[in-house]
Amino acid sequence: METHSIVKVAQGSAFGLVLMVAAAGFVAAADGPMAKPLAVPVPTELPPGELGKTVALGRDIVNQTNTHPLSRQYVGNSLACASCHLDGGTRPKALSFLGAASAYPTYTPREKQVITLEDRILNCFMRSMNGVRPPNGSEVSVAIAAYITWLSEGYPVKMSLKGPFGPNASPSLNIDEDDGDVPHGKALYGSACAGCHGSDGAGVGKFPPLWGSQSYNDGAGMASDLKLATYLKHTMPLGDPILSDQEALDIAAYVNAQPRPRFVLQDHLGLRK
Ligand code: HEC
Ligand code: HEC
Repeated sequence: METHSIVKVAQGSAFGLVLMVAAAGFVAAADGPMAKPLAVPVPTELPPGELGKTVALGRDIVNQTNTHPLSRQYVGNSLACASCHLDGGTRPKALSFLGAASAYPTYTPREKQVITLEDRILNCFMRSMNGVRPPNGSEVSVAIAAYITWLSEGYPVKMSLKGPFGPNASPSLNIDEDDGDVPHGKALYGSACAGCHGSDGAGVGKFPPLWGSQSYNDGAGMASDLKLATYLKHTMPLGDPILSDQEALDIAAYVNAQPRPRFVLQDHLGLRK
C-alpha cells in the first residue's frame, strides 16, 4: 500500500517536473523584455512557392527600404529598417525581429489602442523613417509582415502585456533618462562615433545619419534618450559595443539634442484604405 503511493507520488512529481520545465519556456516568452530569450533557431530556408517569394520580398524591403522600388515612396529619409534593426532584424539585442510576430495583436500606450503586427510595421514608416504609412494590406506591408512572421516561427504565441514588444526586445537600461550629460556626450561622440557617422551627424555612404533632415523624426522610438541609450549600449560602436550605461545615455542625450525632423501625425498618415 505504502509502496504503491510512493510510486504514485514519484510518477506524479516526475510528470510535474516535465510540465514545469515546459511551462518555464512559455513563461519566459510571455514575460517579454525581462525574460531569458528562448533558444529558437533562426530560420534559414524560405517556405516554398509564393509564400517564400513574399518572405524574400519582405527581407529585401527591410534591407533596402529607402531605395527599393516598392517602398521608397513611403520613406522620408535615407534609412532602411535594417539601419537600426541590424542584419535585417536577426541580430540579437539589436532590435531583433526574432519572435516579434508572436506578441501581436497587443495594446500600445502610444496610440492608445490594440494594434496588429502590420500596424506596428506601418507606424515605423511614419516615425523612424520620417515617411508615410503604406496602406494596410499593400504589397509592402504584407511582405514585411510575412518576413517578420517567418522570423518568429517556433515561438509560442503570447500577446504581450507590456506594450508592443516581442520576446527578444532588450530591457531598458536601469538609469534615469534625465541624467544624460550633453557636453560629455559630445566629447564621447567625437571620439567613438564621428569617425563613421561624421562630426556633423549626417552620415556618409553606408554609415547612416544620426540627426538632420535625413534622420528619424522626433516622434520615433530612437528620439527617446533611454531607448537610444539602450540600443547604443548593445550595438555601438558597431562591432565593438563598449559603452557604459552612463556613457550611452550621455551620447544619446547629445545626439537627440541635435536638430531633426518634427513629427506631426497628420503629415504622416498617407492614404489609409
Ligand atoms: C531609426 C531606427 C529605426 C528604424 C529605421 C526602424 N525602426 Fe523599428 N524600431 C525602432 C525602435 C527603437 C523600436 C523599439 C522601441 C520603440 O519604438 O518603442 C522599434 C520597434 C519595431 C518593431 C517592434 C518589435 C517588437 O519587438 O515587437 C517592429 C515590428 C519594427 N520596429 C519594424 C520596423 C520596420 C518594418 C522598419 C522599416 C520600415 C523599422 N522598424 C525601421 C527603431 C527603428
Ligand atoms: C565602425 C563604424 C561605426 C561606428 C564607430 C559607430 N557606428 Fe553607428 N552605425 C554604423 C553602421 C554601418 C550602421 C548601420 C548598420 C547597417 O546598415 O547594417 C550604424 C547604425 C547606427 C544607428 C541606427 C541608425 C541611425 O542612423 O539612426 C545609430 C543610432 C548609431 N549607429 C549610433 C552610433 C553612435 C552614437 C556611435 C558612437 C557610440 C556609433 N553609432 C558608432 C557604423 C558605426
